[in-house]
Amino acid sequence: MTEKILVTENVHLYYGKKEALHGIDLSFKKNDITALIGPSGSGKSTYLRALNRMHDLADNVTVNGTFMFNGQDIYAPNTDTVSLRQKIGMVFQQPNPFPFSIYDNVAFGLRTAGHKDKGFLDETVEKSLKQAAIWDEVKDTLHKSALSLSGGQQQRVSIARALATGPDIMLLDEPTAALDPMSASKVEDTMMQLRNQLTMIIVTHSMAQASRISDKTAFFMDGNLIEFDNTKKVFLDPTRQETQDYISGRFG
Ligand SMILES: Nc1ncnc2c1ncn2[C@@H]1O[C@H](COP(=O)(O)OP(=O)(O)OP(=O)(O)O)[C@@H](O)[C@H]1O
Ligand SMILES: [Mg+2]
Repeated sequence: MTEKILVTENVHLYYGKKEALHGIDLSFKKNDITALIGPSGSGKSTYLRALNRMHDLADNVTVNGTFMFNGQDIYAPNTDTVSLRQKIGMVFQQPNPFPFSIYDNVAFGLRTAGHKDKGFLDETVEKSLKQAAIWDEVKDTLHKSALSLSGGQQQRVSIARALATGPDIMLLDEPTAALDPMSASKVEDTMMQLRNQLTMIIVTHSMAQASRISDKTAFFMDGNLIEFDNTKKVFLDPTRQETQDYISGRFG
C-alpha cells in the first residue's frame, strides 16, 4: 500500500459567504512532488493555505472538511499551529527574508522552537543552506543582511529557513514566478535536489515547470478539482476536456 502523508476530503472553504472551494478530495503520497495548476482564481492558493492553517490568520474564512497529516487531524482544536507550520512549511512567491542576517533568518524557526545551543544552530543552519543549494554562495557572508542577496538567492534562503525546522511537507506557492529565468532555474534545481527527502506541493503557472519537476498534477478550475493523476498522464493524455484546453493554452 502506498503511504499517504496528507489526506484531504470534502474540503469546502468560504471567504465570508462566498464559497471558494467546493469539495476537494486530494491526497499526497510521501515524498511525491505534486503540482497544482489551473487558471487564475481557481483556488490553488486558497487550497494550499488551508493545508497548514494559514487561513487562521484571517477572521472571515471558514474551512470545512477532513485534513489528516500522518494520521493527525490538522484542524483539531489542540493542534499547535506553530509546530504544525514547522512540519508543513511554506514558501511564497515573493522571497520574504526577514531584515536580518542570512544566519539569523535560517536559525529563526529553531530559536522560536527554543533551541539555543550554538553548535546545534551552526550545524543546522549549514545543513539547511546546503540542502537549499545556496551554501557555497553565502558561506563567507552568513552575517550579512539577507536583503543584500539577489531575488533568487533570497528565495533559496527562504527555502533554507523553511527546511531548518525539519519539515515533512513543503508548500510552495509560485516560488519562481517573481524571479528572472536564471534564478528560477536555480530554485527549480533546488527543488529537484530535495526530491525524495520531503513531500512538496507546488503551485505553478508554468506548464513546463510542472511537467519537469512533478510526479503528480492536480488541475483546479472554479474552486473544483477537475483532474488529478500522474503528471505524464495529465499532460499527454488528460481525461477531461477542460484540462486539455488549459494545458494547450486555450484559457487561463
Ligand atoms: N482573502 C480573500 N478574500 C476574499 N476572496 C478571496 C481571498 N483570496 C482569494 N479569494 C477568492 O477566492 C478565489 C480563489 O482564489 P485563489 O487566490 O485561491 O486563486 P489562485 O488559483 O491561487 O489564483 P492565482 O493563480 O491568480 O494565484 C478567487 O475567486 C478569489 O477572488
Ligand atoms: Mg494563487
